[in-house]
Amino acid sequence: MEIRVFPSVDEAVLEAADMVERFISGAGPVLGLAAGATMKPLYAELARRHNQPEPARRCADSRIGLRAYLLDEYVGLGPDDQRSFRNTLMCEFARPVGLAEENVCGPRASEVDLAQECERYEASIREAQVGIQLLGIGVNGHIGFNEPGSPLDSATRVVELSEQTREANSQVFAPDPVPAQAITQGIGTILSAGQLLLLAFGNHKAAPVQQALEGPITPRVPASAIRMHSCATVILDAAAASKLSG
Ligand code: GLP
Repeated sequence: MEIRVFPSVDEAVLEAADMVERFISGAGPVLGLAAGATMKPLYAELARRHNQPEPARRCADSRIGLRAYLLDEYVGLGPDDQRSFRNTLMCEFARPVGLAEENVCGPRASEVDLAQECERYEASIREAQVGIQLLGIGVNGHIGFNEPGSPLDSATRVVELSEQTREANSQVFAPDPVPAQAITQGIGTILSAGQLLLLAFGNHKAAPVQQALEGPITPRVPASAIRMHSCATVILDAAAASKLSG
């Protein structure tokens, strides 16, 4: 695992954007997308680069076969619901880089048979073989929506969201309550990607980052599982790295 610490979020984002841009400029890339505040500046930077005039423009689009797979989705929200991760990622990333709707795949969390939908999505991810999976980290150490206690070999499934996670995401839903459940790629699913790129910024991420990177590898801290992967990169700003000993 490689840990890279940058003085500011801006510098960290530029490095992450370079990595993603290099990857999606290759042939037939499959990118794993994460939602959340952490990813917003990265997607904005990738969109900015995409919209530069040729030849400075290097960011790939649907013409060279980029496909994207979502990490998770709230149960009960259809794809057109503004609050769905799918809609958010279409707005923040896919449309700005010219990626067509049909090339963005995610769990259909408004299906009647959620168990069947989880099986379908797990199979489609395994078949697609994600090249780089982007990851944020929750304040309780979650990745995707794999809350503490999630088995390290778990597959895509329906999960109950913790109060802490619902609180952290409440702004998007206010005044409505945050859905109680989500479909998430499992930790095992996430680990099947070719490369993991975890980003964390800010003081509020310092404790979960320290536990994930320096504590035991345990289901109690789902993000600690990234250390089981042979090609994981962690990009932090100084604040998120402030509790690391090394
Ligand atoms: C959310 C999402 C994750 C995200 C993480 C961190 O609840 N399920 O995909 O990476 O928690 O979110 P944020 O970047 O907003 O802190």
